[in-house]
Amino acid sequence: MVLFQRSLIRSLVQGQLSLCAPLSGNESSVPAWCSARSRHRIDRHGCYTTSVIAGVSERTLIAVKPDGVQRRLVGQIVQRFEQRGFKLVGMKLLQAREDILSQHYHDLHKKPFYPNLLRYMSSGPVVAMVWEGHNVVRTSRLMVGNTNPAEAYPGTIRGDYSVHISRNVIHASDSVEGAQREIQLWFDRRELVDWDCCDHSSSYQV
Ligand code: PPS
Repeated sequence: MVLFQRSLIRSLVQGQLSLCAPLSGNESSVPAWCSARSRHRIDRHGCYTTSVIAGVSERTLIAVKPDGVQRRLVGQIVQRFEQRGFKLVGMKLLQAREDILSQHYHDLHKKPFYPNLLRYMSSGPVVAMVWEGHNVVRTSRLMVGNTNPAEAYPGTIRGDYSVHISRNVIHASDSVEGAQREIQLWFDRRELVDWDCCDHSSSYQV
């Protein structure tokens, strides 16, 4: 065994043996240990680096509404996003100010339910979060379920935890542009944390 290891190391040092895939242009021959965050490059050892899925830094605003906080659902909701593979980059418990709520729901100010919606949203603390990941806006909306819990499928957050539209537990941004606007409204830039997730390569490198 020792002799084999020595001979293997000697071959590697002398360049007679390479742990890298032959440069055939065939991505499937790339060894798993040859990884990097750049796209389709060949590193100095001649290894094909892996490719990172585009759009992994998309972000969305998720807010556990006052009924969700009162019912102690915060942990279970956070767990769903973590388990799905998204990265938490911002989180705070706050009593939402009226000016934030009126800006947030600006498009709805002519709706008959608007006064009730604002009263409900300021009836207690909210947990605002920013989650990051591939397609996070669309996927979060699917995880959250239909706005009206009566229409929300079991397995979705609203489908599992709520029964009426006026108490539907959670908010999720409805578009990438909407998410950017809402994140800026609810969070100061310094409250968002850029960090590397240790499972990033297993989730996103193909
Ligand atoms: S609408 O009417 O189609 O524009 O509304 P919709 O896009 O479905 O929902 C927008 C937000 O309004 C909330 N909503 C309500 N709150 C209280 N009572 C009633 N009846 C009601 N209807 C809609 C709904 O939960 C959405 O809030 P967010 O925070 O985005 O989930």
